[in-house]
Amino acid sequence: MDIKKIGIIGAGQMGSGIAQVAAASGFHVVLNDISEEFLQRGINNISKSLSKFVSKGKLKEGEDKEIMGRIETTTELDRFSEVDFVVEAATENENIKFEIFKKLDSITGKDVILASNTSSISITKISAQTSKPDKVIGMHFMNPVPIMQLVEIIKGLPTSDETYQVTKELAEKMGKTTVLAQDYPGFIVNRILLPMINEAVYALMEGVGSVEDIDTAMKLGTNQPMGPLALADLIGLDTCLAIMEVLHKELGDSKYRPCPLLKKYVAAGWMGRKTGRGFYNYQ
Ligand code: CAA
Repeated sequence: MDIKKIGIIGAGQMGSGIAQVAAASGFHVVLNDISEEFLQRGINNISKSLSKFVSKGKLKEGEDKEIMGRIETTTELDRFSEVDFVVEAATENENIKFEIFKKLDSITGKDVILASNTSSISITKISAQTSKPDKVIGMHFMNPVPIMQLVEIIKGLPTSDETYQVTKELAEKMGKTTVLAQDYPGFIVNRILLPMINEAVYALMEGVGSVEDIDTAMKLGTNQPMGPLALADLIGLDTCLAIMEVLHKELGDSKYRPCPLLKKYVAAGWMGRKTGRGFYNYQ
């Protein structure tokens, strides 16, 4: 399969990161979101990240402009009739994703693979919204996408081996290493990572340690690049809560109950870095 143009839905943290990595690997990108404002914010993120690479000498002067030149933006999903592969990175909400996949099913060519960057929603359920469930797959990038090495690939029950092979090769062309996960809640990474983060919030709520001490303990005591609370702020506390709710509901085990303090932060609108406040203050 000759993939030249990739359609990406969602210009947020993840979608813009995926667009950047795809364009930097030579693909043409059509980046879609629901408003010009969101698209502009995504483009600004990409531009900032590419400038960092230029200033560190990881990209040559001018290469950033070339990469940006391969990214087109649109609020019209119909433009996806011209793409060879789709990565959906919209809001982590089941109904929103279902609607998008129904639309993609009618807009895209019959051989076009529809990948979702979902961090917790069932790929099998998403695939059932389309007439080509064998062509639906999970392609879960990690945040920050331009830096993180991993793409977790998730096969839904009907996903074909061919779809898996094409997706794996594409991720590798983007310079990533892949792992294969079966379609169970949270897949591999979030099934293990999110309960750790949730436990760190319980430790904070119970006064076991301060924000700084919990993070320092895990950074220096277990060699993680950042502590679990700082990582929660990076991921977004609303996303962390959404993933815990899926684990709790779908696996039915009380060990996955979201920490009340996590819920309280989200209720306050303290979602982490993206809102300027989470467990840390970024203002
Ligand atoms: N674009 C370009 N460069 C970036 C960047 C970006 N978006 N983000 C960070 N960098 C660069 C920095 O400029 C810096 O470069 P140099 O080393 O050349 O100076 C380098 O990355 C390291 O950054 P910092 O010095 O700012 O800070 P750091 O050393 O703590 O690294 C980090 C930052 C890469 C985020 C690191 O802390 C880390 O790996 N944290 C863990 C991230 C992680 O676990 N992500 C997975 C989250 S789970 C997920 O995404 C799945 C889900 O569904 C929830």
